[in-house]
Amino acid sequence: MQFSISQGNIATTAADCIVVNLFEGVEAPGGATGAVDAALGGAIRNLIAAGDFDGKAGATALLYTNGKLPAPRVLIVGLGKAEKFDAHGARKAAAAAYKALAKLKGVKQFATIVHGAGSGDLDAAAAAQAVVEGTALASYRTPNYKREAPEPGPTQCTVVEYDAARLSNIEAGVRRGERIAAGVNLARDLSNEPPNVLYPVAMAQRAQTMAAATGLRCTILGEETMRELGMNILLAVSRGSAHEAQLVILEHAPAGTESQPPLVLVGKGITFDTGGISIKPSERMEEMKHDMSGAAAVIGAMQAIAELGAPRRVIGVAACVENMPDGNAFRPGDILTGMTGKSAEILSTDAEGRLILADALAYVARFAPKAVVDLATLTGAIGVALGQQAAGLFSNNDDLQAALMAASAKSAERLWPMPMWDEYMEAIKGDMAEVKNSGGRAGGVSTSAKFIEHFTEGYPWAHLDIANVAWTTTERDALGPKGATGYGVRLLVDLAEAY
Ligand code: BES
Ligand code: MN
Ligand code: ZN
Repeated sequence: MQFSISQGNIATTAADCIVVNLFEGVEAPGGATGAVDAALGGAIRNLIAAGDFDGKAGATALLYTNGKLPAPRVLIVGLGKAEKFDAHGARKAAAAAYKALAKLKGVKQFATIVHGAGSGDLDAAAAAQAVVEGTALASYRTPNYKREAPEPGPTQCTVVEYDAARLSNIEAGVRRGERIAAGVNLARDLSNEPPNVLYPVAMAQRAQTMAAATGLRCTILGEETMRELGMNILLAVSRGSAHEAQLVILEHAPAGTESQPPLVLVGKGITFDTGGISIKPSERMEEMKHDMSGAAAVIGAMQAIAELGAPRRVIGVAACVENMPDGNAFRPGDILTGMTGKSAEILSTDAEGRLILADALAYVARFAPKAVVDLATLTGAIGVALGQQAAGLFSNNDDLQAALMAASAKSAERLWPMPMWDEYMEAIKGDMAEVKNSGGRAGGVSTSAKFIEHFTEGYPWAHLDIANVAWTTTERDALGPKGATGYGVRLLVDLAEAY
């Protein structure tokens, strides 16, 4: 998707289609929509009066201009109720508009106004960012393995602003939106790739290629190095796999920040989770190719953070491992001692995410982090608790939790705080080892977070359980197709800038 910016009147802009908007309940539109309506002799007012378009959020209507305007088509997108409208409303409206345009064979290039920058009262940069994100996210297509490529949607978008005084803000928002959306779409690509293509070494190589293109420092640790470091808990998960585990470390440190305590982002990167010896039922097991979505979000966020030139030090760590059963696989009953010297008893080889995080979180202590945030598709139970409406937030640090909630509100990637009471520790106290890797069904999300917390030392920490939001099996909104959502990239970019 290519974006350009133009100052002028959308009504007289040449394009395959121009996009304007309408709040719910408005009968006589003003602003850009009013100008287009006037040029069309009241066609938009007629559409509303006839009851055929009501401005509901996400609704669209298409009109043909019959030579009255340079563009042959006008698309009107509904913004919903004005009092409920916000930047995420602009994002969703832009996505709905793109989706409608993608159905029209004749539209390759279109022009849009910045939803919300006029009567929506949004900050011009924030509105432009949201419109670009919505458009670029809606244009995302999953990797194609068919002989024939899918019909491409529109590939060029001109963002039109009438007010010259707002142009530089719009420009900044457009560029920001492009970079963030590229990070989200990178995370989606990684997560959507089939598990035979995206095994740990392949994932590490993609991260390395991205790092070379963006100027991030990239270090990759293989199994030999991890063994020397004593990362035996992580390595145990990898033992049943023919693929070598990889720990990918990406560093963004602009000049002068090299010795700053970094914000550290850690992602669970299980490229396929069979459950291991505690094997999963085969029904829907194919979805476990997405079990690396936490690591994908970290890689996507690091790309965006680098491209945006965030003025602080950030380190992203992707722990890439495949969880398979074979003659070398680890077993229920095994007791493992990892990098911290703490021991863990395995009750289920399917509770593997917390195991690889135990050593990845021990490893990052060496950076003397300002804070560490991990993202993991950790438990099925988080979806039982929250549905697909929010990821679970677990933290033992109020400042970090507040910063994450603020980033969540800003990015419209929902988080909901979950309890971390010490009493949950009882369920995972081991008999022969300090902890065991499953505390049973009761409070399963909180006991999994307590297990991870046990291996964090010396830094503020938060854990995001994204198992319920990282992918969808049905298309839920216009912001993307079914499959990986790229959840977490927008949130992490906002956190990196504000915390
Ligand atoms: N990757 C899964 C979690 C998961 C399951 C995500 C379903 C999305 C959909 C994780 O490794 C896992 O298997 N967790 C177990 C933990 C249990 C064995 C303690 C779970 O949630 O059942
Ligand atoms: Mn598992
Ligand atoms: Zn898993």
